[in-house]
Amino acid sequence: MTVTVRDFRTEDAGAVVGLRRACTPFMVTTKEALLAGVATAHPAKKYRLLVAEEDGEIIGTAHVGIAYDSSDPGQASVTPQVHPERRGRGAGSLILRTAEEHLAAEGATSVYAWVLDEPPARAFAERHGYRPTRPAHFQRLDLARCTLPELPPLPAGVELRTGADYAGDPRPLFAADAEAGSDEPGDISVTLDDYGDWLNHTWNDPCLDRALTSVVVVDGRIASFTAAHTDRHTRYASGMTGTVREFRGRGLAKIAKIHSLRRARAAGYTDAFTSNDADNGPMLAINRWFGYEICATEVRHVRALG
Ligand SMILES: CC(C)(COP(=O)(O)OP(=O)(O)OC[C@H]1O[C@@H](n2cnc3c(N)ncnc32)[C@H](O)[C@@H]1OP(=O)(O)O)[C@@H](O)C(=O)NCCC(=O)NCCS
Repeated sequence: MTVTVRDFRTEDAGAVVGLRRACTPFMVTTKEALLAGVATAHPAKKYRLLVAEEDGEIIGTAHVGIAYDSSDPGQASVTPQVHPERRGRGAGSLILRTAEEHLAAEGATSVYAWVLDEPPARAFAERHGYRPTRPAHFQRLDLARCTLPELPPLPAGVELRTGADYAGDPRPLFAADAEAGSDEPGDISVTLDDYGDWLNHTWNDPCLDRALTSVVVVDGRIASFTAAHTDRHTRYASGMTGTVREFRGRGLAKIAKIHSLRRARAAGYTDAFTSNDADNGPMLAINRWFGYEICATEVRHVRALG
């Protein structure tokens, strides 16, 4: 049968989410989040959600776009995913070619992709001209059975809030996210300065569980936070944990995570996931302390276009 690649249609959402869950079970994805991502994509992203089809069945997919929020022009990304039982039929290569042609036409000069740290995936990337840059680790915590630390007594002036407490004005969370995010290790530098875009893709992300998001406030100012993403059933993922510079090294990120994870378990979540750049010493140390274990490693790859 012939594999073809086309743009996503709304009615594909269920199949695409099922496929993404099969390919990366350590990521939290929902239909609502997928549709919202498509509906609110920033025009400068030149975003396309591609699907590969064979015999009417969706067997592969990829988010494709320009890193419009990076200070370095010409950066772009595509991560083709093909269903584990439908590999070796040309879907990944066709998705990649379609994506690269689109990105090159939109001015991209470098394309980044996440590649599972497994021989077939790495060989595929190499064959298509991609070279490895840096690894990141996915980690899982058995939330149903692990022993979670108790919340320590809070120092004077420190209080705990939730994301829901900022529903009226999330701007202070945007500021904290922008500061912490700019220090996160990675290969595409991101500048978070577009509040409207942050509302679309972070604050109004349907996966964001504002009630389970925890915020540590010191003397009325946000010092640290952890953003909880959930599938609203059993799976919880850390969207972002950040501490503003002046408050780092005081145990506040740990407090935010203890507060969020304890409430997530009480709400019935059984699996917690997170992903960190392999160079993110502090965040990996925190997650190890909670008992998270590495469940998969992906290696970022890059290819120059043109
Ligand atoms: C990662 C981050 C959230 C930590 O916040 P924090 O409030 O300073 O964290 P805590 O004080 O609760 O804990 C830090 C732990 O990391 C350890 N640590 C600090 N630097 C470290 C390093 N280079 N290597 C290993 N461990 C390190 C500390 O010793 C401490 O552990 P301990 O309490 O057992 O001693 C903060 O550095 C940050 O905002 N970084 C930028 C954003 C980011 O990368 N976020 C994670 C992305 S998912």
